[in-house]
Amino acid sequence: MRPARLEISLNAITHNLGVVRSLVGDGVRVIAVVKAEAYGHGALRAAHACRRAGADMLAVALVEEGIALRQQGILTPILVMGAFLPSQAQEFVAWRLTPAVMSLEQATALSAAAHRLRVELSAHLKVDTGMSRGGLRHDSLRELLPQLAALPALRYEGIMSHLADPANSAEFTDRQRELFADAVAQVTAVLGPVPYQHLAASAAICCRPDCHFTTVRPGNMLYGALEDVPTEGRPPLRPAMALKACIALLKPALAGEVVSYGCTYRVPRDTTLAVVPVGYADGYPRALSSQAEALVGGQRCPLVGRVCMDSVMVDVGGVPTCRVGDEVVLLGRQGEETITVEELARRAGTITQEIMARMGSRLPRVYMDDEQGTTDA
Ligand SMILES: Cc1ncc(COP(=O)(O)O)c(C=O)c1O
Repeated sequence: MRPARLEISLNAITHNLGVVRSLVGDGVRVIAVVKAEAYGHGALRAAHACRRAGADMLAVALVEEGIALRQQGILTPILVMGAFLPSQAQEFVAWRLTPAVMSLEQATALSAAAHRLRVELSAHLKVDTGMSRGGLRHDSLRELLPQLAALPALRYEGIMSHLADPANSAEFTDRQRELFADAVAQVTAVLGPVPYQHLAASAAICCRPDCHFTTVRPGNMLYGALEDVPTEGRPPLRPAMALKACIALLKPALAGEVVSYGCTYRVPRDTTLAVVPVGYADGYPRALSSQAEALVGGQRCPLVGRVCMDSVMVDVGGVPTCRVGDEVVLLGRQGEETITVEELARRAGTITQEIMARMGSRLPRVYMDDEQGTTDA
């Protein structure tokens, strides 16, 4: 197997889903977000883990992601949260996927497709409460709801919206919450009861209990990461992903010599460099060039020079005992040291979701505590 791998802990995902449950209480449903290959962890394995942990529903962004899960035998209800074309309507019906309806055109096409097959399709209505992304504008509901109600083959079991900045913009979130509560009231009055009412993703699950409504939609926190949530508000999550590799090559570097493309780094004193076979083609961000650290022999060692497509160089001068084949941790724990996904995201100037979701398909995923203990190449 390639001397680089992503180690995925499914037990961490089930633990984290339990943390979500403990935060929201038993009466609140959980829709586990497994889009983008479950933020890089592998959608199928994550879906099984979430189902075992009692998730009420799964959510993906794309119809294609939903179909892939169905083709691999996932029977749990799947919400497709992203925008889709009316021409994709029949795929929802054929694969029993639940659309997040954001326009009358979509609803009309879905209803026609379901009607043709003489079935009723469950749908969630997506309302834009201020983020200006997917969803029907809140101020269009009064006009559109009677037209949506007239479509024969759709059954609205849910209503959803998405928060733009729940951890930092309290007033804006208050306004979104207010508009969502009003949308729930309007929808209930015209379409009847909608059991799934959901607004909160990870940050709001932690910081805004007033936004939990009847259902929550965690993604990031299922994988052990959080954005913007202050330390004191952080629940005890377990990271589910580690990026590990081996030292492929050890070589001396002399003071003044250049490391990697662009000649951006010069070795300040004689040292030893480890060449580690992971690069930006694996999703390790190029923005981490000379910005990150790696764990070798239980110690933090600086990553030096530009991140290449297939390798990075680590200054291991401080670990004279290291040898070719030794483990290098780029994300995760080794001995007493840990590199968190939050640390990588901060150093790369991005968010934790992007770090995890971009881990490439070229990296083998090793499922550490799966019942079968298997590897996906
Ligand atoms: C509509 C929607 N709901 C839920 C989530 C999950 O968000 P998080 O990863 O912050 O929990 C996302 C993620 O982008 C989303 O787009």
